[in-house]
Amino acid sequence: MTINSFPPDFLWGAATSAYQIEGGARADGRGDSIWDAFCRVPSAVLDGETGDVACDHYHRWPDDVRLMARLGLKAYRFSVAWPRVLPEGASRINPAGLDFYDRLVDALLAAGVRPFVTLYHWDLPTALQDRGGWPNPESVGWFAEYTDAVSRRLGDRVRDWITHNEPWVAAVLGYGTGVHAPGLRDLASALRAAHHLLLSHGEAIPILRRNSPGARVGIVLNLSPVYPVSETEADRAAARRKDGFLNRWFLDVLYRGAYPDDMLAYYHEQWPSFLDFPAAELTRIAAPTDFLGVNYYTRQVVRHDPQGVEAQAQAVRVEGAEYTHNDWEVHPAGLAELLLRLHRDYAPAALYVTENGASFPDWPGADGKVNDERRVAYLRAHLVEAHRAIRAGVPLRGYFVWSLLDNFEWAMGYSQRFGLVYVDYPTQRRMVKASGHWYADVIRANGIKDG
Ligand code: FCB
Repeated sequence: MTINSFPPDFLWGAATSAYQIEGGARADGRGDSIWDAFCRVPSAVLDGETGDVACDHYHRWPDDVRLMARLGLKAYRFSVAWPRVLPEGASRINPAGLDFYDRLVDALLAAGVRPFVTLYHWDLPTALQDRGGWPNPESVGWFAEYTDAVSRRLGDRVRDWITHNEPWVAAVLGYGTGVHAPGLRDLASALRAAHHLLLSHGEAIPILRRNSPGARVGIVLNLSPVYPVSETEADRAAARRKDGFLNRWFLDVLYRGAYPDDMLAYYHEQWPSFLDFPAAELTRIAAPTDFLGVNYYTRQVVRHDPQGVEAQAQAVRVEGAEYTHNDWEVHPAGLAELLLRLHRDYAPAALYVTENGASFPDWPGADGKVNDERRVAYLRAHLVEAHRAIRAGVPLRGYFVWSLLDNFEWAMGYSQRFGLVYVDYPTQRRMVKASGHWYADVIRANGIKDG
Protein backbone atom coordinates (compact mmCIF):
# COMPACT_ATOMS: atom_id res chain seq x y z
CA MET A 1 0.00 0.00 0.00
CA THR A 2 1.87 3.05 -1.27
CA ILE A 3 1.11 6.50 -0.06
CA ASN A 4 1.11 9.25 -2.67
CA SER A 5 2.53 11.81 -0.31
CA PHE A 6 2.20 15.56 -0.64
CA PRO A 7 4.74 18.20 0.43
CA PRO A 8 4.95 18.50 4.23
CA ASP A 9 3.26 21.91 4.46
CA PHE A 10 0.57 21.16 1.87
CA LEU A 11 -2.63 22.93 2.88
CA TRP A 12 -5.73 20.72 2.96
CA GLY A 13 -8.95 22.67 3.06
CA ALA A 14 -12.59 22.99 2.18
CA ALA A 15 -14.49 25.95 0.75
CA THR A 16 -17.89 27.61 1.05
CA SER A 17 -19.38 31.01 0.25
CA ALA A 18 -21.56 33.37 2.27
CA TYR A 19 -24.81 33.35 0.34
CA GLN A 20 -24.69 29.60 -0.16
CA ILE A 21 -24.49 28.66 3.54
CA GLU A 22 -25.14 31.55 5.92
CA GLY A 23 -28.88 32.18 5.87
CA GLY A 24 -29.68 34.85 8.46
CA ALA A 25 -30.68 36.96 5.49
CA ARG A 26 -32.20 39.69 7.62
CA ALA A 27 -30.20 39.16 10.81
CA ASP A 28 -28.36 41.98 12.57
CA GLY A 29 -28.85 44.62 9.93
CA ARG A 30 -27.78 42.69 6.82
CA GLY A 31 -28.78 44.48 3.62
CA ASP A 32 -30.23 43.03 0.45
CA SER A 33 -27.97 41.52 -2.21
CA ILE A 34 -28.53 40.86 -5.90
CA TRP A 35 -28.96 37.18 -5.02
CA ASP A 36 -31.76 37.95 -2.55
CA ALA A 37 -33.42 39.97 -5.31
CA PHE A 38 -32.79 37.33 -8.00
CA CYS A 39 -34.37 34.63 -5.81
CA ARG A 40 -37.56 36.70 -5.72
CA VAL A 41 -37.82 36.69 -9.54
CA PRO A 42 -40.34 33.99 -10.54
CA SER A 43 -38.58 30.95 -12.11
CA ALA A 44 -35.09 32.43 -11.77
CA VAL A 45 -34.09 29.77 -9.23
CA LEU A 46 -35.21 26.14 -9.35
CA ASP A 47 -38.36 25.56 -7.25
CA GLY A 48 -38.31 29.18 -6.06
CA GLU A 49 -35.66 28.36 -3.45
CA THR A 50 -33.72 31.13 -1.68
CA GLY A 51 -30.69 31.57 0.55
CA ASP A 52 -32.83 33.00 3.38
CA VAL A 53 -31.96 30.07 5.66
CA ALA A 54 -29.54 27.94 3.61
CA CYS A 55 -27.39 25.95 6.10
CA ASP A 56 -28.15 28.47 8.86
CA HIS A 57 -24.40 28.78 9.28
CA TYR A 58 -24.92 32.34 10.55
CA HIS A 59 -26.28 30.79 13.75
CA ARG A 60 -24.58 27.39 13.71
CA TRP A 61 -21.02 28.48 12.94
CA PRO A 62 -19.55 27.29 16.28
CA ASP A 63 -20.72 23.74 15.48
CA ASP A 64 -19.46 24.06 11.93
CA VAL A 65 -16.00 25.11 13.13
CA ARG A 66 -15.96 22.11 15.48
CA LEU A 67 -16.86 19.93 12.51
CA MET A 68 -13.92 21.34 10.52
CA ALA A 69 -11.60 20.61 13.42
CA ARG A 70 -12.93 17.04 13.60
CA LEU A 71 -12.19 16.54 9.92
CA GLY A 72 -8.70 17.87 10.54
CA LEU A 73 -8.97 20.69 7.99
CA LYS A 74 -5.87 22.84 7.88
CA ALA A 75 -7.61 25.69 6.08
CA TYR A 76 -11.10 26.96 5.44
CA ARG A 77 -12.04 29.22 2.53
CA PHE A 78 -15.18 31.28 3.12
CA SER A 79 -16.50 34.56 1.80
CA VAL A 80 -17.62 37.74 3.52
CA ALA A 81 -21.10 38.99 2.65
CA TRP A 82 -20.71 42.57 1.44
CA PRO A 83 -24.33 43.45 2.41
CA ARG A 84 -23.66 42.41 6.02
CA VAL A 85 -20.72 44.80 6.23
CA LEU A 86 -22.12 47.72 4.19
CA PRO A 87 -25.89 47.18 3.97
CA GLU A 88 -26.34 49.93 1.37
CA GLY A 89 -23.13 48.87 -0.39
CA ALA A 90 -21.19 51.98 0.55
CA SER A 91 -20.93 54.75 3.16
CA ARG A 92 -22.39 53.11 6.28
CA ILE A 93 -20.58 50.25 8.00
CA ASN A 94 -22.71 47.81 9.99
CA PRO A 95 -20.45 46.80 12.92
CA ALA A 96 -22.61 43.74 13.72
CA GLY A 97 -21.82 42.35 10.28
CA LEU A 98 -18.08 42.65 10.87
CA ASP A 99 -18.48 41.18 14.38
CA PHE A 100 -19.76 37.96 12.87
CA TYR A 101 -16.61 37.43 10.78
CA ASP A 102 -14.41 38.59 13.62
CA ARG A 103 -15.75 35.84 15.87
CA LEU A 104 -15.56 33.28 13.08
CA VAL A 105 -11.91 34.09 12.39
CA ASP A 106 -11.03 33.84 16.08
CA ALA A 107 -12.78 30.48 16.38
CA LEU A 108 -11.01 29.13 13.29
CA LEU A 109 -7.61 30.21 14.55
CA ALA A 110 -8.34 28.71 17.97
CA ALA A 111 -9.24 25.44 16.21
CA GLY A 112 -5.99 25.50 14.20
CA VAL A 113 -7.77 26.16 10.89
CA ARG A 114 -6.24 28.85 8.64
CA PRO A 115 -8.85 31.27 7.27
CA PHE A 116 -8.78 32.08 3.54
CA VAL A 117 -11.11 35.01 3.05
CA THR A 118 -12.82 35.69 -0.27
CA LEU A 119 -14.09 39.25 -0.45
CA TYR A 120 -16.50 38.87 -3.34
CA HIS A 121 -18.41 35.68 -4.02
CA TRP A 122 -21.24 37.26 -6.04
CA ASP A 123 -23.45 38.94 -3.44
CA LEU A 124 -23.33 42.58 -4.57
CA PRO A 125 -25.55 44.83 -2.41
CA THR A 126 -28.77 45.58 -4.30
CA ALA A 127 -28.29 49.30 -3.67
CA LEU A 128 -25.15 49.14 -5.85
CA GLN A 129 -26.87 47.20 -8.61
CA ASP A 130 -29.48 49.98 -8.59
CA ARG A 131 -26.59 52.31 -9.44
CA GLY A 132 -25.56 50.14 -12.37
CA GLY A 133 -23.63 47.33 -10.68
CA TRP A 134 -20.31 46.07 -12.07
CA PRO A 135 -20.68 47.59 -15.54
CA ASN A 136 -20.52 51.00 -13.83
CA PRO A 137 -16.87 52.15 -13.44
CA GLU A 138 -17.75 53.46 -9.97
CA SER A 139 -17.91 49.83 -8.84
CA VAL A 140 -14.09 49.88 -8.57
CA GLY A 141 -14.32 52.49 -5.82
CA TRP A 142 -17.19 50.71 -4.06
CA PHE A 143 -15.13 47.53 -3.86
CA ALA A 144 -12.12 49.47 -2.53
CA GLU A 145 -14.24 50.92 0.28
CA TYR A 146 -15.61 47.48 1.17
CA THR A 147 -12.14 45.88 1.02
CA ASP A 148 -10.82 48.57 3.34
CA ALA A 149 -13.64 48.02 5.88
CA VAL A 150 -13.12 44.25 6.00
CA SER A 151 -9.34 44.25 6.03
CA ARG A 152 -9.12 46.92 8.71
CA ARG A 153 -11.13 44.66 11.00
CA LEU A 154 -9.70 41.23 10.10
CA GLY A 155 -6.30 42.14 8.69
CA ASP A 156 -4.41 41.56 11.92
CA ARG A 157 -5.40 37.86 11.94
CA VAL A 158 -6.26 36.89 8.38
CA ARG A 159 -3.18 36.43 6.18
CA ASP A 160 -4.71 34.87 3.07
CA TRP A 161 -6.96 37.10 0.98
CA ILE A 162 -8.86 36.40 -2.21
CA THR A 163 -10.28 39.47 -3.94
CA HIS A 164 -12.76 37.84 -6.32
CA ASN A 165 -14.24 34.45 -6.92
CA GLU A 166 -14.67 33.61 -10.61
CA PRO A 167 -15.07 37.03 -12.24
CA TRP A 168 -16.00 35.24 -15.48
CA VAL A 169 -19.09 33.76 -13.84
CA ALA A 170 -20.04 36.97 -12.02
CA ALA A 171 -19.77 38.96 -15.27
CA VAL A 172 -20.89 36.54 -17.98
CA LEU A 173 -23.63 34.60 -16.20
CA GLY A 174 -24.77 37.68 -14.26
CA TYR A 175 -24.73 40.35 -16.99
CA GLY A 176 -24.35 38.37 -20.22
CA THR A 177 -26.58 35.28 -20.21
CA GLY A 178 -28.78 36.17 -17.23
CA VAL A 179 -28.55 32.75 -15.59
CA HIS A 180 -27.22 34.31 -12.39
CA ALA A 181 -28.01 37.52 -10.50
CA PRO A 182 -28.66 40.24 -11.51
CA GLY A 183 -30.08 38.35 -14.52
CA LEU A 184 -29.16 40.78 -17.31
CA ARG A 185 -28.49 39.71 -20.89
CA ASP A 186 -25.96 41.84 -22.72
CA LEU A 187 -22.54 40.43 -23.47
CA ALA A 188 -20.93 43.81 -24.13
CA SER A 189 -21.88 45.01 -20.65
CA ALA A 190 -20.71 41.66 -19.24
CA LEU A 191 -17.25 42.49 -20.64
CA ARG A 192 -17.38 45.89 -18.97
CA ALA A 193 -18.41 44.17 -15.73
CA ALA A 194 -15.48 41.75 -16.06
CA HIS A 195 -13.08 44.64 -16.62
CA HIS A 196 -14.26 46.46 -13.49
CA LEU A 197 -14.13 43.27 -11.44
CA LEU A 198 -10.50 42.84 -12.54
CA LEU A 199 -9.63 46.48 -12.00
CA SER A 200 -11.19 46.39 -8.53
CA HIS A 201 -8.99 43.35 -7.82
CA GLY A 202 -5.90 45.36 -8.80
CA GLU A 203 -6.96 48.33 -6.68
CA ALA A 204 -7.71 46.13 -3.66
CA ILE A 205 -4.17 44.70 -3.54
CA PRO A 206 -2.42 47.75 -2.02
CA ILE A 207 -5.32 48.22 0.42
CA LEU A 208 -4.97 44.63 1.64
CA ARG A 209 -1.19 44.94 1.91
CA ARG A 210 -1.56 48.14 3.93
CA ASN A 211 -4.24 46.84 6.33
CA SER A 212 -2.95 43.30 6.69
CA PRO A 213 0.82 43.20 7.18
CA GLY A 214 2.35 40.13 5.58
CA ALA A 215 -0.85 39.47 3.63
CA ARG A 216 -0.80 36.99 0.79
CA VAL A 217 -3.21 38.15 -1.88
CA GLY A 218 -4.67 36.33 -4.86
CA ILE A 219 -7.66 35.97 -7.14
CA VAL A 220 -9.71 32.86 -7.94
CA LEU A 221 -10.58 31.99 -11.54
CA ASN A 222 -12.79 29.27 -12.98
CA LEU A 223 -10.62 27.66 -15.63
CA SER A 224 -11.07 24.70 -17.96
CA PRO A 225 -9.00 23.25 -20.76
CA VAL A 226 -11.00 23.54 -23.98
CA TYR A 227 -10.93 20.93 -26.76
CA PRO A 228 -12.48 20.95 -30.24
CA VAL A 229 -14.98 18.15 -30.83
CA SER A 230 -13.43 17.51 -34.27
CA GLU A 231 -10.28 18.44 -36.14
CA THR A 232 -12.10 20.72 -38.59
CA GLU A 233 -10.70 24.24 -38.78
CA ALA A 234 -14.08 25.67 -37.69
CA ASP A 235 -14.18 23.58 -34.51
CA ARG A 236 -10.52 24.24 -33.71
CA ALA A 237 -11.09 27.97 -34.10
CA ALA A 238 -14.15 27.69 -31.84
CA ALA A 239 -12.03 25.97 -29.17
CA ARG A 240 -9.40 28.72 -29.38
CA ARG A 241 -12.10 31.37 -29.06
CA LYS A 242 -13.69 29.63 -26.10
CA ASP A 243 -10.28 29.35 -24.46
CA GLY A 244 -9.84 33.09 -25.09
CA PHE A 245 -13.28 33.93 -23.74
CA LEU A 246 -13.04 31.76 -20.61
CA ASN A 247 -9.36 31.50 -19.73
CA ARG A 248 -6.97 33.84 -21.58
CA TRP A 249 -9.15 36.96 -21.30
CA PHE A 250 -8.48 36.88 -17.54
CA LEU A 251 -5.05 35.26 -17.37
CA ASP A 252 -3.40 37.45 -20.01
CA VAL A 253 -4.41 40.71 -18.42
CA LEU A 254 -3.62 39.54 -14.88
CA TYR A 255 -0.18 38.15 -15.78
CA ARG A 256 0.83 40.14 -18.87
CA GLY A 257 -1.11 43.37 -18.52
CA ALA A 258 -2.87 43.01 -21.87
CA TYR A 259 -6.07 41.40 -23.14
CA PRO A 260 -5.39 38.79 -25.86
CA ASP A 261 -5.21 40.28 -29.37
CA ASP A 262 -7.30 37.58 -31.03
CA MET A 263 -10.17 38.20 -28.61
CA LEU A 264 -9.93 41.97 -28.92
CA ALA A 265 -10.22 41.56 -32.68
CA TYR A 266 -13.16 39.20 -32.24
CA TYR A 267 -15.06 41.56 -29.91
CA HIS A 268 -14.43 44.50 -32.23
CA GLU A 269 -15.94 42.45 -35.02
CA GLN A 270 -18.98 41.57 -32.86
CA TRP A 271 -19.59 45.09 -31.60
CA PRO A 272 -18.18 47.87 -33.80
CA SER A 273 -18.66 50.26 -30.86
CA PHE A 274 -16.46 48.10 -28.60
CA LEU A 275 -13.90 50.35 -26.90
CA ASP A 276 -10.45 49.25 -25.87
CA PHE A 277 -9.73 49.62 -22.18
CA PRO A 278 -7.14 52.23 -21.12
CA ALA A 279 -3.59 50.87 -20.96
CA ALA A 280 -3.02 52.40 -17.50
CA GLU A 281 -5.92 50.31 -16.15
CA LEU A 282 -4.47 47.13 -17.61
CA THR A 283 -1.22 47.78 -15.78
CA ARG A 284 -3.13 48.21 -12.53
CA ILE A 285 -4.96 44.92 -13.06
CA ALA A 286 -1.59 43.19 -13.49
CA ALA A 287 -0.30 44.22 -10.04
CA PRO A 288 1.79 41.32 -8.66
CA THR A 289 -0.07 38.79 -6.52
CA ASP A 290 1.10 36.01 -4.23
CA PHE A 291 -1.00 33.19 -5.63
CA LEU A 292 -3.57 32.18 -8.20
CA GLY A 293 -6.61 30.20 -7.04
CA VAL A 294 -7.93 27.69 -9.55
CA ASN A 295 -11.47 26.36 -9.47
CA TYR A 296 -11.51 23.22 -11.57
CA TYR A 297 -14.51 20.97 -12.10
CA THR A 298 -14.53 19.82 -15.70
CA ARG A 299 -13.18 20.40 -19.19
CA GLN A 300 -15.00 21.84 -22.19
CA VAL A 301 -15.43 20.10 -25.50
CA VAL A 302 -16.88 22.49 -28.07
CA ARG A 303 -18.02 22.79 -31.66
CA HIS A 304 -18.41 25.85 -33.83
CA ASP A 305 -21.91 27.28 -33.56
CA PRO A 306 -22.68 30.61 -35.27
CA GLN A 307 -25.61 31.12 -32.84
CA GLY A 308 -23.60 30.20 -29.72
CA VAL A 309 -23.70 33.11 -27.25
CA GLU A 310 -20.39 32.13 -25.66
CA ALA A 311 -17.97 33.14 -28.41
CA GLN A 312 -19.84 31.01 -30.94
CA ALA A 313 -18.55 27.84 -29.35
CA GLN A 314 -21.15 25.36 -28.18
CA ALA A 315 -20.26 22.82 -25.48
CA VAL A 316 -21.10 19.26 -26.47
CA ARG A 317 -21.64 16.07 -24.48
CA VAL A 318 -18.91 13.48 -24.63
CA GLU A 319 -20.18 10.06 -25.63
CA GLY A 320 -19.50 7.40 -22.98
CA ALA A 321 -18.03 9.80 -20.41
CA GLU A 322 -19.12 9.96 -16.77
CA TYR A 323 -21.22 12.98 -15.78
CA THR A 324 -22.06 14.41 -12.35
CA HIS A 325 -25.59 15.20 -11.15
CA ASN A 326 -25.35 18.75 -12.54
CA ASP A 327 -24.09 17.39 -15.85
CA TRP A 328 -20.42 18.19 -15.69
CA GLU A 329 -18.11 15.67 -17.32
CA VAL A 330 -15.72 13.96 -14.90
CA HIS A 331 -12.29 14.58 -16.44
CA PRO A 332 -9.51 14.46 -13.82
CA ALA A 333 -6.63 14.65 -16.33
CA GLY A 334 -7.77 18.19 -17.15
CA LEU A 335 -6.61 19.33 -13.72
CA ALA A 336 -2.94 18.40 -14.20
CA GLU A 337 -3.02 19.68 -17.76
CA LEU A 338 -4.42 23.01 -16.59
CA LEU A 339 -1.96 23.41 -13.70
CA LEU A 340 0.99 22.63 -15.98
CA ARG A 341 -0.20 25.12 -18.56
CA LEU A 342 -0.66 27.86 -15.95
CA HIS A 343 2.83 27.23 -14.62
CA ARG A 344 4.35 27.22 -18.11
CA ASP A 345 2.44 30.15 -19.65
CA TYR A 346 1.84 32.47 -16.69
CA ALA A 347 4.09 31.25 -13.83
CA PRO A 348 2.05 32.46 -10.82
CA ALA A 349 4.19 32.67 -7.66
CA ALA A 350 2.07 29.91 -6.13
CA LEU A 351 -1.11 28.04 -6.97
CA TYR A 352 -3.98 26.66 -4.95
CA VAL A 353 -6.84 24.54 -6.15
CA THR A 354 -9.44 26.71 -4.44
CA GLU A 355 -12.41 24.56 -5.53
CA ASN A 356 -12.75 21.03 -6.80
CA GLY A 357 -15.62 18.67 -6.16
CA ALA A 358 -18.74 17.06 -7.52
CA SER A 359 -22.48 16.98 -7.08
CA PHE A 360 -24.16 13.61 -6.74
CA PRO A 361 -27.68 12.77 -5.52
CA ASP A 362 -26.61 11.72 -2.01
CA TRP A 363 -29.02 10.23 0.45
CA PRO A 364 -28.62 8.52 3.84
CA GLY A 365 -28.90 4.74 3.40
CA ALA A 366 -30.77 2.26 5.63
CA ASP A 367 -27.78 2.32 8.00
CA GLY A 368 -28.19 6.11 8.31
CA LYS A 369 -24.87 6.70 6.52
CA VAL A 370 -24.23 8.64 3.34
CA ASN A 371 -22.04 6.40 1.26
CA ASP A 372 -20.99 8.73 -1.55
CA GLU A 373 -18.52 6.43 -3.28
CA ARG A 374 -18.64 8.37 -6.52
CA ARG A 375 -17.49 11.54 -4.78
CA VAL A 376 -14.63 9.65 -3.13
CA ALA A 377 -13.60 8.36 -6.57
CA TYR A 378 -13.87 11.86 -8.06
CA LEU A 379 -11.77 13.50 -5.36
CA ARG A 380 -9.19 10.72 -5.35
CA ALA A 381 -8.72 10.88 -9.11
CA HIS A 382 -8.28 14.66 -8.99
CA LEU A 383 -5.79 14.46 -6.14
CA VAL A 384 -3.74 11.96 -8.15
CA GLU A 385 -3.61 14.60 -10.91
CA ALA A 386 -2.73 17.37 -8.45
CA HIS A 387 0.13 15.20 -7.19
CA ARG A 388 1.29 14.60 -10.75
CA ALA A 389 1.42 18.36 -11.33
CA ILE A 390 3.47 18.88 -8.16
CA ARG A 391 5.94 16.20 -9.26
CA ALA A 392 6.26 18.02 -12.58
CA GLY A 393 7.29 21.18 -10.75
CA VAL A 394 4.05 23.13 -10.33
CA PRO A 395 4.15 25.21 -7.10
CA LEU A 396 0.78 23.92 -5.91
CA ARG A 397 0.51 24.79 -2.22
CA GLY A 398 -2.92 23.53 -1.27
CA TYR A 399 -6.25 22.07 -2.26
CA PHE A 400 -9.80 22.98 -1.15
CA VAL A 401 -12.75 20.68 -1.65
CA TRP A 402 -15.96 22.32 -2.81
CA SER A 403 -17.71 22.09 -0.51
CA LEU A 404 -17.61 21.60 3.24
CA LEU A 405 -21.42 21.40 3.40
CA ASP A 406 -24.24 20.67 0.98
CA ASN A 407 -25.58 24.13 0.19
CA PHE A 408 -27.54 26.52 -2.03
CA GLU A 409 -26.24 25.93 -5.54
CA TRP A 410 -27.30 29.25 -7.09
CA ALA A 411 -29.89 28.91 -9.87
CA MET A 412 -30.14 25.18 -9.12
CA GLY A 413 -31.39 25.80 -5.59
CA TYR A 414 -30.85 22.92 -3.18
CA SER A 415 -31.00 20.24 -5.88
CA GLN A 416 -27.20 19.78 -5.99
CA ARG A 417 -25.26 18.30 -3.09
CA PHE A 418 -21.53 19.06 -3.26
CA GLY A 419 -20.72 18.61 0.45
CA LEU A 420 -18.29 16.42 2.33
CA VAL A 421 -21.00 16.80 4.95
CA TYR A 422 -24.65 16.05 4.31
CA VAL A 423 -27.15 18.68 5.41
CA ASP A 424 -30.69 17.61 6.27
CA TYR A 425 -32.31 20.98 5.53
CA PRO A 426 -35.56 20.58 7.55
CA THR A 427 -33.62 19.79 10.76
CA GLN A 428 -30.26 21.39 9.78
CA ARG A 429 -28.60 18.21 11.00
CA ARG A 430 -25.07 17.71 9.63
CA MET A 431 -23.81 14.20 8.84
CA VAL A 432 -20.27 13.51 7.63
CA LYS A 433 -20.45 11.58 4.35
CA ALA A 434 -18.07 8.73 3.47
CA SER A 435 -16.13 11.29 1.42
CA GLY A 436 -15.69 13.46 4.52
CA HIS A 437 -14.25 10.52 6.47
CA TRP A 438 -12.06 9.62 3.51
CA TYR A 439 -10.80 13.20 3.20
CA ALA A 440 -10.00 13.28 6.93
CA ASP A 441 -7.82 10.18 6.33
CA VAL A 442 -6.09 11.87 3.39
CA ILE A 443 -5.30 14.87 5.58
CA ARG A 444 -3.99 12.68 8.39
CA ALA A 445 -1.78 10.72 5.98
CA ASN A 446 -0.88 13.86 3.99
CA GLY A 447 -1.50 11.79 0.89
CA ILE A 448 -3.61 9.27 -0.95
CA LYS A 449 -3.28 5.55 -1.21
CA ASP A 450 -2.47 4.32 -4.68
CA GLY A 451 -4.91 2.14 -6.53
C1 FCB B 1 -18.35 27.44 -8.57
C2 FCB B 1 -18.72 28.45 -7.51
C3 FCB B 1 -19.21 27.86 -6.22
C4 FCB B 1 -20.07 26.64 -6.46
C5 FCB B 1 -19.40 25.67 -7.40
C6 FCB B 1 -20.17 24.40 -7.64
O1 FCB B 1 -18.52 28.02 -9.82
O2 FCB B 1 -17.61 29.27 -7.21
O3 FCB B 1 -19.88 28.86 -5.51
O4 FCB B 1 -21.32 27.02 -6.89
O5 FCB B 1 -19.15 26.30 -8.62
